Amino acid sequence: MQPRRCCLLLHLHLLLYLLLLSGTQADLEGTFTIRLLQTSIFQNTSFVDTEGLGLLEDIELGSLDKHTWTIRFYQPWVRPALPRGDWDTIENMIKIYLQKFNHLINKGAMQKDVPYPFVAQCMAGCEVYPNRTSRAFAYVGYNGQDFLSFNMDNATWLLSQDTNLSQYVQAVLQNYTAFSELVEVLFNDTCVDDIEMLLHYGKAALERQEPPVATVFARMPKPDQLLLVCRVTGFYPRPISVAWLQDGQEVLPGPALNTSAILPNADLTYQLRSILAVAPHDGHSYACRVRHRSLGTRSLLIPWENHSIAPTVGIAIAVLLLVATASAGGVWWWKRRKGEEATWEIQEFII
Ligand SMILES: *[C@@H]1O[C@H](CO)[C@@H](O)[C@H](O)[C@H]1NC(C)=O
Ligand SMILES: *[C@@H]1O[C@H](CO)[C@@H](O)[C@H](O)[C@H]1NC(C)=O
Ligand SMILES: *[C@@H]1O[C@H](CO)[C@@H](O)[C@H](O)[C@H]1NC(C)=O
Ligand SMILES: *[C@@H]1O[C@H](CO)[C@@H](O)[C@H](O)[C@H]1NC(C)=O
Ligand SMILES: *[C@@H]1O[C@H](CO)[C@@H](O)[C@H](O)[C@H]1NC(C)=O
Ligand SMILES: *[C@@H]1O[C@H](CO)[C@@H](O)[C@H](O)[C@H]1NC(C)=O
Ligand SMILES: *[C@@H]1O[C@H](CO)[C@@H](O)[C@H](O)[C@H]1NC(C)=O
Repeated sequence: MQPRRCCLLLHLHLLLYLLLLSGTQADLEGTFTIRLLQTSIFQNTSFVDTEGLGLLEDIELGSLDKHTWTIRFYQPWVRPALPRGDWDTIENMIKIYLQKFNHLINKGAMQKDVPYPFVAQCMAGCEVYPNRTSRAFAYVGYNGQDFLSFNMDNATWLLSQDTNLSQYVQAVLQNYTAFSELVEVLFNDTCVDDIEMLLHYGKAALERQEPPVATVFARMPKPDQLLLVCRVTGFYPRPISVAWLQDGQEVLPGPALNTSAILPNADLTYQLRSILAVAPHDGHSYACRVRHRSLGTRSLLIPWENHSIAPTVGIAIAVLLLVATASAGGVWWWKRRKGEEATWEIQEFII
């Protein structure tokens, strides 16, 4: 045990030295977080399914090949950030760590009669603030529930749930000081430097901005209720502000207003929708207002036109007719045209 741990730390220090040498001043402002996620499904004592993923903010840096435990890079700028030899060192460290992890967990599961299959998850990482201080974190989960967390201030493991099993794993991890040292060195001591290096290489990806595309339409679930829907999609980064205006005044949160969570699209953009319940023909004017970093100080303002219920029905009928008569290609062309028109309309409303 001792020589291996020593070796591991030597590698680490070499690696960190190289990282420091290549360290550059980051010119991006804000708070940034690196997270490493591990999910291990223990099918039985001899078979573990392991998945690993690295993230900088919401950008997937790379994952672990579940068969070979080698790194697959998802961003072209991640591999060049380090010399080839350093990546080899990191891969070796990951392999040693996973072997030990699986061994320790299987041993504990057998001693405590833990039923198979079960899932163990780890999340470790760090956060760097604009004032160049950082906070590191490490959590362990068991069957989807919080299990243990690591306290960086005194390098101890804390129980998230107090069970025989969690106490046992806490004792094992506390004993296994190489793991704690690894967590500390990787995430506490060098977090600022690691993140600054990645910010430097991944600047374009982190600064990427995709403007939101917004559409407003209505649904009438009951004759006395009109649901105005503002659908906003295709934006990046994630923070956004979507509000309904009634006669130019922002509608405050209440039972009439229902805004969804921000959901991911497949192309690393996001979407959400905000629904406002109103009475039909209530004499007010309504508009959906969208603010996003990509728009600068401008806002998107998409008014709800009362008369557009009729066109919406008309379009629905047209779609039905087209589906019935036209080829798939024809429908696609039509949708594309609609999309272009809608986008053009929205651009008109940028104020
Ligand atoms: C363990 O699980 C794997 C995958 O489900 C299966 O192929 C293997 O036969 C199992 N081994 C034992 C000893 O049960
Ligand atoms: C740095 O910023 C973080 C987050 O805003 C804050 O919690 C921390 O106290 C700050 N540290 C210093 C030394 O200013
Ligand atoms: C983590 O870093 C902070 C700030 O540099 C330091 O105060 C703390 O002692 C470190 N924790 C460990 C466990 O090394
Ligand atoms: C470490 O810090 C945590 C939180 O401050 C505390 O609950 C725990 O008892 C401390 N552990 C030791 C060994 O000092
Ligand atoms: C913990 O283990 C002890 C003895 O091994 C047993 O008496 C006790 O019931 C267990 N507690 C729980 C919550 O499983
Ligand atoms: C912790 O280490 C000590 C000494 O190596 C050993 O006696 C003890 O059984 C270990 N405890 C656990 C829970 O692994
Ligand atoms: C908001 O919409 C969701 C999904 O349509 C629905 O499940 C939920 O009940 C709504 N909440 C309110 C307060 O209307």
